[in-house]
Amino acid sequence: MSSFIALEGPDGSGKSTQAKLLAEEVGARGYDVLLTREPGGSPIGDQIRQILFTLNNKSMHPKTEFLLFSASRAQHVYEVIRPYLDKGGVVISDRYFHSSLAYQGYGHDLDLDTLKQITSFATSDLLPDLILLLDLPVEEGLNRRKSEGKWNRLDDYQLEFHQKVRQGYHAMVDEDPDRWAIVDASQPVERIQMEIRKVVFRHLASVQTLP
Ligand code: TYD
Repeated sequence: MSSFIALEGPDGSGKSTQAKLLAEEVGARGYDVLLTREPGGSPIGDQIRQILFTLNNKSMHPKTEFLLFSASRAQHVYEVIRPYLDKGGVVISDRYFHSSLAYQGYGHDLDLDTLKQITSFATSDLLPDLILLLDLPVEEGLNRRKSEGKWNRLDDYQLEFHQKVRQGYHAMVDEDPDRWAIVDASQPVERIQMEIRKVVFRHLASVQTLP
């Protein structure tokens, strides 16, 4: 039985490292697994990613940002995620639409209902079965990214913006707690991975036993 798992979290939460380690283990346990990411995840999506992360595009309006993320996502769903799920595989995505709700919605105060409608159109309501929120204090995450030299245009926004993003994630967890699992991302990498695996394999086992 297929399963769609998304990793979410503020910048510098170590999602990409964790997603990679998780995908390796899911594969090692015999599942067909696809690791992918947003924005991007498809050749067209990767071109959109370039536009979004060009440091010079400082005048980009949050609405433009949202629509580009959504365009990349539509392509990702139809070209990559949907077909893999239809074959019965496990898809692990490093970010999905809750990133847009958190960053462009809660962070930039764009109207959430409108964003949800456009997202529903872009994805045909494809929702992850499980979402892992890698949670950590905003200052800690930003410092990590700076020290790794991974700084992009979106990181340049104010600390207050990142606080709103984190609060947005928590609001979404509260709205749909059964779909989410919060993992404390300020722990060492191995410890975080252990917690993630516990949640994911419990989820995969429950999916397998469903009639
Ligand atoms: P990325 O280089 O993937 O870094 P990270 O390791 O933090 O995931 O950059 C993703 C950035 O794009 C990050 O700042 C969050 C932002 N983003 C949005 O604002 N909206 C979205 O819908 C997505 C997918 C990402």
